[in-house]
Amino acid sequence: MFNEEFQLDAPIRWGMVGGGRGSEIGYSHRAAAQRDRLFTFVAAALDLDAERGRDFGTKLGLAPERCYPDYKTLFTEEAKREDGIQAVSIATPNSTHYEIAKAALEAGLHVICEKPATIHVEDALELKALAEKQNKMLAVMYGYTGFQMVHQAREMVRRGDIGAVRVIQMSFAHGFHNTEIEKNSPGAKWRMNPEVSGPSFIIGDCGTHPFYMAGMITGLKVKSLMCSRQSFIESRAPLEDNAHVVFQFEGGAVGTLWASAINSGSMHQQKVRIVGEKASLEWWDEYPNQLRYEVQGEPVRILERGMGYLHNDDPGVSANRQGGGHAEGFFESWANLYHRYALAIDAYNRNDKAFLESHWYPDIDGGIDGVKMVNACVKSADNGAVWVDYD
Ligand code: NAI
Repeated sequence: MFNEEFQLDAPIRWGMVGGGRGSEIGYSHRAAAQRDRLFTFVAAALDLDAERGRDFGTKLGLAPERCYPDYKTLFTEEAKREDGIQAVSIATPNSTHYEIAKAALEAGLHVICEKPATIHVEDALELKALAEKQNKMLAVMYGYTGFQMVHQAREMVRRGDIGAVRVIQMSFAHGFHNTEIEKNSPGAKWRMNPEVSGPSFIIGDCGTHPFYMAGMITGLKVKSLMCSRQSFIESRAPLEDNAHVVFQFEGGAVGTLWASAINSGSMHQQKVRIVGEKASLEWWDEYPNQLRYEVQGEPVRILERGMGYLHNDDPGVSANRQGGGHAEGFFESWANLYHRYALAIDAYNRNDKAFLESHWYPDIDGGIDGVKMVNACVKSADNGAVWVDYD
């Protein structure tokens, strides 16, 4: 059972860049970070519109003088305070992640960055090197990987319950952009602009999630891939709103990814199916409390969250916060991840390398992998859906 009494010596003083009023993902960060009282929200540059950001920040309880007009002022002014921020989350559009994360690390902050981590692979590699130099945590918000049943799948693969992995099927295919909604939605509009979104829309926006999750569950690395992408809403070209990717993994496994924003009628269809030589596992984010376990020749088993037969890889974190039967969801997954980030930050501050080596959280390596995958897909698709080497 989750231990809510566990606390650090003091909560981590935490700020945000982006995630302003009306943003899609700002509230999720604030709700998750503050859930276990491990982070205290004290300062921010929440919005491109400084006045709106200040008004929103004060209504979230920030002191007016700590609602800053932009991220540079946030980092400079907070560094002057004895009680200045120690960590920051970046929830701005994709093209800004690199410069903001770089400035945050240079200011000596721990960083939680939204995905895709950057647009260019070199930028993500540079951020990794900078974080190492500064001895700071650099995490990437792959928010679906805090679910207990995802960790259960990871452990089952690790202990050999399904045998060697042969096939990985991934999808994140929703229908929310089956018409040109970007005409009336600022959050959708920047996603269709290559200068802000990067060279891909839906592979980067959604495909990176199951891709990271499958890698986390199986530990397999991609060798090469082939991608076909389309813009069914023509005005989105060259960015795709639908893509199919075929993967070859090191060691012989193969896989597919369907990333789509035009899967009419679908809510998410974020699924990861791992086929092993003895059995298969399947997790679906619309039913996150369940994990399908299908052994060849036996009836299907639906494993339920919160039950004693599950492996519990860390009773303090990715455990059930509530007994089985009470549904947990998105916010619990995010809170589990923020809990892990807090423990990592604490370990960095104490220079506890042994803890960090055994402590899992979505780090910049996963971020680099996502950016690599997106860029390799674009290269493949734009050269006629050819096979390209991953590295
Ligand atoms: P959005 O367009 O809804 O909100 C962006 C917010 O950032 C706005 O408040 C805007 O004013 C602010 N902003 C933009 N540039 C800024 C800057 N330079 N300084 C300060 N504030 C700035 O965008 P959304 O959907 O919230 O996405 C933000 C990021 O989060 C994207 O990278 C996206 O890929 C990622 N995301 C991740 C999700 C996940 O599950 N991990 C889900 C949704 C989005």
